Amino acid sequence: MLAVVVEEFGSPDGLAVVDLPDPSPGGGQVSIATEAIGVGGVDALIRSGALGDYGFASGHILGSEVAGTVTAVGEGVDTAWVGRRVWAFTGTGGGYAEQALSSAATLIPLPDALSAADAVTLGTSGIVAHFALRHAHFARGESVLVRGAAGGIGVMAVQFAARAGARAVAVTTSSAERGDRLRALGATHVLDRSGRGPADAPAGYDVIIDIVAGPDLPAFFSRLEPNGRMVAVGAMGGWPPADFGKEMVAAFQKSMSFATFSADTVPMPERQAVTAEIFADAARGELKSIVHEILSLDQAAQAHQRMDDGEVFGRIVLTPTR
Ligand SMILES: NC(=O)c1ccc[n+]([C@@H]2O[C@H](COP(=O)([O-])OP(=O)(O)OC[C@H]3O[C@@H](n4cnc5c(N)ncnc54)[C@H](OP(=O)(O)O)[C@@H]3O)[C@@H](O)[C@H]2O)c1
Repeated sequence: MLAVVVEEFGSPDGLAVVDLPDPSPGGGQVSIATEAIGVGGVDALIRSGALGDYGFASGHILGSEVAGTVTAVGEGVDTAWVGRRVWAFTGTGGGYAEQALSSAATLIPLPDALSAADAVTLGTSGIVAHFALRHAHFARGESVLVRGAAGGIGVMAVQFAARAGARAVAVTTSSAERGDRLRALGATHVLDRSGRGPADAPAGYDVIIDIVAGPDLPAFFSRLEPNGRMVAVGAMGGWPPADFGKEMVAAFQKSMSFATFSADTVPMPERQAVTAEIFADAARGELKSIVHEILSLDQAAQAHQRMDDGEVFGRIVLTPTR
């Protein structure tokens, strides 16, 4: 099978297309002939070497979510899965390939009306956005700021907050054109990356969903309302300053909360139930999947270059071509 591996951590040029033997599913696993492969911000972080401490080694196959058809099952897995079209979570790697392995516990059957590309655009992003808002105890009528809203997770968080009756849904993004696209998804106020925006934008927010972190993170503590909650789900802007805790404690008079959130902490059956609902909503046209572009698997380096260049709105999807 064709697969894309990180030969050298750093620029997208370090990705290589290689021919590998088809993997066979172990106990509890299935093998999937991939139709669509999601390309996420986390793939770019792993490839860049920024997550070097997490033990990724040369030869690592990127990709955490795929959609396609189950071709084989391992020991203990119901053979009825074979031939079914599914979405699957492959963990921290293994997705950028013609055949991907996944735990059977992550599988979600695809509704007929949902394309494989839509499924990998909605799957992980939808879960992170949904449960991050829940982790923030977001309630109808509250104001929300999504920092880094133009990415895969952000476009879902904006739609969920708007649908759930947020009083305001502000976003940070890097261009007016991206701001217009976010307005079409439910954003009410568009701010630049530093948080500057129109005069009528709220001064403070009840909830901030943060996908960026980076050096500017502490500046956003001052954008929380009293009892406001910030939930950090990503670090696309790099790590925050080492002393960010000092600024957080200094803001104690607001009784603010800062939390991190990882979808890995949500029990799999709960994740599956919510993902199935998201897929059904999208199939009915009630949620939009934002596919930036579909490229072939052997164009993975181009996909990563587009992410590094900040061109991507929503998600790029890879698809095997042979
Ligand atoms: N918590 C979880 O369970 C979970 C699960 C999966 C992934 N993640 C994490 O989520 C992140 C990826 O999210 P994603 O896939 O939505 O990312 P993405 O699609 O790459 O988008 C992130 C957005 O952030 C903005 N951005 C990028 N660099 C920035 C910078 N230096 N300063 C300010 N804004 C910047 C960009 O928008 P503009 O150019 O418009 O500003 C970009 O569209 C990764 O850190 C990953 O580890 C977390």
